[in-house]
Amino acid sequence: MREISNLNQLRSEDTSNIAFVPTMGALHAGHAKLIEKAREISPHVLVSAFINPLQFNDPKDLEEYPRNPGSDALVAERSGATILWRPEVAEIYPGQVESISAGSLGNLFEGASRPGHFDGMLTVVNRLFSLIHPGWALFGEKDFQQLFLVRQMARGQHEGVEIVSVPTVRADDGLALSSRNVRLSDEDRRAALVIYRALFNASKGLSLKEMQEQLDKTLRQEPRFTCDYSAIIDEEYFTLATERSIAKRALVAGSVSGVRLIDNMPLGNRGN
Ligand code: PAF
Repeated sequence: MREISNLNQLRSEDTSNIAFVPTMGALHAGHAKLIEKAREISPHVLVSAFINPLQFNDPKDLEEYPRNPGSDALVAERSGATILWRPEVAEIYPGQVESISAGSLGNLFEGASRPGHFDGMLTVVNRLFSLIHPGWALFGEKDFQQLFLVRQMARGQHEGVEIVSVPTVRADDGLALSSRNVRLSDEDRRAALVIYRALFNASKGLSLKEMQEQLDKTLRQEPRFTCDYSAIIDEEYFTLATERSIAKRALVAGSVSGVRLIDNMPLGNRGN
């Protein structure tokens, strides 16, 4: 694996055969899965590790975002990355760059609690795609709204980039892997498991009403979990699901001891 700090080091190479895994570092087994999947697609796997200041609406969250450059290199290499790129802010944002708006969906669900987050996320992803021009880019399903918005942007602005999604990786107890999990104490972690239980119970519901009831009822059982939103969406449009929605997905976000956690799950009885 080659480590580069500036994309100039790649300039002469054809990048359309690159499978690209954008990350903010603090790589864990969920990222490893993305990199492994990228390696199945192409022998040229570029991983970026860049903490994008534009997508943090809370300076404290940005400051506390985990940083682990040593272990990032190990995880990236072991998972099959061929290039690890750690750009400086000046390379990504050299003065004015095009800002991308997430539109009205950028203000819903995750966006309602994190104003500007999706605009910042799309702005950096657009910038990364424009700098690299990869053939594929891989995103985890855990950030489902992010995945939806990136697909939408790529369809309009980066037709040459195929967006590949990878299912959420979970710990043995069901907790979705996230860089933020390192900030949970053992007790916090036990409380956080309510999210997985709620999604799982919702997936057993036989009607939309029953799914939503199961979701909300289970979440209420854990007093240490502060729920931000729990919703069942229609995956095709990212709107609230109706009984007629073919692909439904439950979304949950909230916090335990101030650590923000999000997760989602496709619901079993699709087409109910
Ligand atoms: O999912 C993430 O880690 C980030 O939102 C991404 C896609 C790397 C953009 O900064």
